[in-house]
Amino acid sequence: MSKVVYLNGSFVDYAEAVVPVEDRGFVFADGVYEVIRFYGGKPFAAEEHLARLRRSAEAIKLDGLPSTQELMEAALETVDRNGCVNATLYLQVTRGPAPRKHEFPASEVPVTVFMIAREVPRPDAERVNRGVACITVPDIRWHRCDIKSIALLPNVLAKQQAAEAGAAEAIFVRDGIVTEGGSSNFFMVRGECLFTHPADEHILAGITRDYVLSLARKLQIEVREETFGMSEVENADEVFITSTGIEVLPVTTIDGKPVGNGVPGPVTKRLWQAFDDSISKL
Ligand code: PDD
Repeated sequence: MSKVVYLNGSFVDYAEAVVPVEDRGFVFADGVYEVIRFYGGKPFAAEEHLARLRRSAEAIKLDGLPSTQELMEAALETVDRNGCVNATLYLQVTRGPAPRKHEFPASEVPVTVFMIAREVPRPDAERVNRGVACITVPDIRWHRCDIKSIALLPNVLAKQQAAEAGAAEAIFVRDGIVTEGGSSNFFMVRGECLFTHPADEHILAGITRDYVLSLARKLQIEVREETFGMSEVENADEVFITSTGIEVLPVTTIDGKPVGNGVPGPVTKRLWQAFDDSISKL
């Protein structure tokens, strides 16, 4: 249980933190969010996360975001006050409380800014070595998946379906194209080449995705940001997914069929190792 949360400029006891019932986040899912990882008490790629938060806010015309410096200081203090070491910091900004009306409220309504830190261990090495199962689901989301919106019902439903199928992640397929996971980005390795969906409006441009692509380039692995379908994935040598929480996670079965030879592959392992090395140097 988290002890203290950040709410609109103050640090408040978890049990005392209250948001008005007509907050537009609650009523319309009218807001954006980020999840930032902390390792050994230090943030990982926090500037990139806060820059994406600002892009998401701009994309939904949400004005009044605190400055990046204020957000950064509040994030660090939230983690610090909760004595977190290896943690995730959840940060949400909504268009604030106002009588329910779809159009934006008058500009004097202040945005709601909320942060909560939770101790979360590094991914389980045994699970990483074994790899995980995924299922595919139709991508029924809107056409602005590049915005990190708090409106996550399709993702919630997809991930619940995966959980009920005993799978770790649901992989979205839109018009025959594999886009991304319910809360992760999707990569496949074919031959010597690493493929992932381009960072357009059909996926969230993951911070981990970007980081892994830069690691791949450093390791001289050829990278192609191109669209592909399930028939290509069925012939892939390796598949893995990435996110702030799971880092680099090998996928060994999709819809019950083995990926490649059914075990985490060498390119995935190199990337996981490179990711792990950069964290230990933080
Ligand atoms: N989700 N795609 C989707 C749909 C996501 O929700 C996420 C992350 C990612 C990976 O992004 P990043 O590498 O920046 O974490 C891709 C977060 C972790 C969540 O909702 O909990």
